[in-house]
Amino acid sequence: MTWTVILPLLLLLTPAFTVDKGNFKTCKDARFCRRQREPRIDYYIHELLVDTVKLDSSKTALTATVKNIKSNDELLLEIHGFEDRTFRIRLNELRPLRKRYEVDISIDKLPKAAPMDLQQQSGQLQLNFPNKLHLNLIYNPFRVDIYDDGTLLTSLNSQSLLLIEPMRTKPGFVPNSDKSAADDQQTEDAAGDWESQTDEHRPEIVANDTDEQQEAEAKNDEPWEETFKGHVDSKPYGPNSIGLDVTFFGFENVYGLPEHADSFRLRSTKDTDPYRLYNLDVFEYELNSPMALYGAIPFMIAHNERSTIGMYWNNAAETWVDVDYGFISSAGTLFGGSSTPKTDTHWFSETGIIDVFFFLGPKPADVSRQFTGLVGRPYLPPFVTLGYHQCRWNYNDEKDVATVHENFDRYDIPVDFIWLDIEYTDGKRYFTWDTPKFPHPVEMINNLTAKGRNLIVISDPHIKKDDNYFIFKEMLDRGLYVKTKDGKDYEGWCWPGASYYPDFLNPATCEYYANLYSRESFDKIWTWNDMNEPSVFNGPEITMLKDIQHIGGLEHREVHNLYGILHTKATYEGHLKRADNKVRPFILTRSFFTGSQRYTAVWTGDNAAEWGHLKASNPMILSLGIAGMTFAGADVGGFFKNPETQLLVRWYQAGAFQPFFRAHAHIDTRRREPWLFDEQSMLLIRDSIRARYTFLPFWYTLFFEASQTGLPMMRPLWYEFPEDQNTFAMDDEYLLGDALLVKPVTDENTKTLNVYFPGTSAETWHDITTLAIHKGGSKSQIDTPMNKIPVFQRGGTIMPRRFRVRRSAILSIEDPITLSIALNDTGDAQGSLYLDDGISREHLDGNYFSIKLHLKNNILSSRVVHSASAYKTKVWLERIYLAGFKFKPSSIELNELFSGQKKVLEFFYDDKHHVLTIRKPGVNMSKEWRMIFRA
Ligand code: GLC
Repeated sequence: MTWTVILPLLLLLTPAFTVDKGNFKTCKDARFCRRQREPRIDYYIHELLVDTVKLDSSKTALTATVKNIKSNDELLLEIHGFEDRTFRIRLNELRPLRKRYEVDISIDKLPKAAPMDLQQQSGQLQLNFPNKLHLNLIYNPFRVDIYDDGTLLTSLNSQSLLLIEPMRTKPGFVPNSDKSAADDQQTEDAAGDWESQTDEHRPEIVANDTDEQQEAEAKNDEPWEETFKGHVDSKPYGPNSIGLDVTFFGFENVYGLPEHADSFRLRSTKDTDPYRLYNLDVFEYELNSPMALYGAIPFMIAHNERSTIGMYWNNAAETWVDVDYGFISSAGTLFGGSSTPKTDTHWFSETGIIDVFFFLGPKPADVSRQFTGLVGRPYLPPFVTLGYHQCRWNYNDEKDVATVHENFDRYDIPVDFIWLDIEYTDGKRYFTWDTPKFPHPVEMINNLTAKGRNLIVISDPHIKKDDNYFIFKEMLDRGLYVKTKDGKDYEGWCWPGASYYPDFLNPATCEYYANLYSRESFDKIWTWNDMNEPSVFNGPEITMLKDIQHIGGLEHREVHNLYGILHTKATYEGHLKRADNKVRPFILTRSFFTGSQRYTAVWTGDNAAEWGHLKASNPMILSLGIAGMTFAGADVGGFFKNPETQLLVRWYQAGAFQPFFRAHAHIDTRRREPWLFDEQSMLLIRDSIRARYTFLPFWYTLFFEASQTGLPMMRPLWYEFPEDQNTFAMDDEYLLGDALLVKPVTDENTKTLNVYFPGTSAETWHDITTLAIHKGGSKSQIDTPMNKIPVFQRGGTIMPRRFRVRRSAILSIEDPITLSIALNDTGDAQGSLYLDDGISREHLDGNYFSIKLHLKNNILSSRVVHSASAYKTKVWLERIYLAGFKFKPSSIELNELFSGQKKVLEFFYDDKHHVLTIRKPGVNMSKEWRMIFRA
């Protein structure tokens, strides 16, 4: 039997998917993890050498030498203070044998430096910064304490786990020497039997160790070579890992560190492996696990009811993070008792330098602003990308695409994008078409765009090894691929079979690659960048060997987690270039790093059609959001396996209220476009997609706010209710902006859901379907028949919506707005609306409208806080719903402020539900106006 037959069968028959853990390293398998995790305190003690302390002339940077008192190894310490309550602390070898890699792509802009004052004290130095912040440098044992207004919040090296392993020269190591025949043999042995397998599915190809090998590997603690499953890592610079402990005092909740399929509040790793950050293509990933996934953002938030702190570990090598929750013991006197919680964290990376940033909040929104101020705000995507995306692996040919497209109209379901996966290519040669199946790509694209829809195609980074493939040849001739340790072009395997991998650290590669997006038939469509961890089917842990060389002799080990962000950055630049910088790019990526939000949206990779995976999508997207990757979603329906209808319907309902809304499915699953189900289910799916479209103006306003403030559109409850302890461990409910509470149904046969309404009892929450009102700080059982998506609008908010649902978002961009207003206890509400042309980059030059709406003392007013100079909008106000409006007005009058025009409005009052509906105010949204409700 061939693999084409066996794999689909396996896929459909296997009851539950389980990752093949043996393909991936545990901490035990990664020697530096083992070394860093097993503290040998005597070895680790460091001392700050007082005489070496220096402050630069601007008083914004302090340097000093820190010495390991056992080994005498010396480290360079740097401390930088910035405005906006941000610190940077760096530690590097004072005299490294070879320059250690310092990550810079993650940093968008350093905040303005803040001067410090030094105050010498016994055994320590106090560094005073503006805003009542100070740092204490304790000399021996060396430690850094961070205080806010006299309260100790964080401490570095309080457990003396600081360790930077000095680089050494490998005996006999000559960089890029000739490749030996023995090495060739080794790679081939590790590779398995590729040729006998098809290129349509992921083969099982990782070589297995023999028992003896495994035993030898477990015992072997030599500094130089390291073997995993037959793959040899030559480690030419020996062990040079870095590690540091960071304790958060008074905190018992930490979050972040995407990407993991785990709870939003990070778990204690005391009895498990640490959380691992190493971008990997994990086939059939496991839930509730600290195992690494496709992307990495080494960013963590610690939160309690008084304050919120962020910490960013700026390192792109393999990284592990331990989390341990506990209580302050003897040092407890400092905090007035031993019941004060603390969270110990321990961070270690295989190489690079220690480069840590702290963001001192004090509120969650401050941390988001501070962090994304540094690493870049999420870019504002084209309006249409907020709509619904229809994908599967694969739509077979042009006819298939046309039929799917027509069926959306036939069943009156809106959709903005149809996606093509790898099969559209000529033999997995990206930027080519399988012409028998797609003979007229331009026409196919035009047919979609003529109806207001778009096409997205996949473009993976691996390049098929084929002398007749122009991209392969041109990149080869220009030397743009990554190299083996011996300086030869590296060959790995992926979908096309033998492939080479572009070196995106080389600017010439990025330029060449970016230009490919200007090729005819690719120049107007947007892009899906996948397999960019990078995925190498025959490599160790399905990725690249760590001793692969990038430009300038950089080792892959140093930059592994950057491959995805560099790939997408090149794509982003290609999109900009081909449109003369005038059109906003759209890219979906699987792999990412800190800062990727400047270029891409992300999805959570190959999930499965299981209830557990639907449930996991919420914490995964929340973690991405607080780490800056705000435009995120999960494959609706689940990628592997066939969802039962109920699961699919519930998944659509959940996906409609997550930032990126795309259905996707594996090639071997049954077709599952909405109309293929019974009518009732099709209608439910249609309703959830249509619901998404009614919220698009609200979503777009949130996306704009994210691009200005870094605040995720999809937020944990404690972002808006930082003092509500009931919310700290919650990840099955979340907020959209500050206005909508969502608790999607994620369990089978759920008849009722227990929903928690955050805030104090002064807070009200309005069920958007039943109009029932719930008080903050309470729980309610909510009925969840199949047509119910539990969504509640917060009293005191105004949401812009559009109720004329069209076939795609672009067709609605000038449609009128409806305001959904939910009043709070005092009869007030506020909200905003963002409007622009949806596609150009002119908003960056100020061509947009930002409108604030306020309801107070029975007057609703609209104020234009930013008015476009060139962009005009036709968008007008069609209707207003006011929920929780206490009386029937005698009249409602609209006054346009500049023209002075007055108008008496028609309205209807539902005194049972206290809902006031105002018809056709008719005013253009770019005008300022007041609406007066007379008693
Ligand atoms: C990877 C992607 C998946 C895609 C497949 C084929 O598994 O994660 O979304 O369909 O590759 O390109």
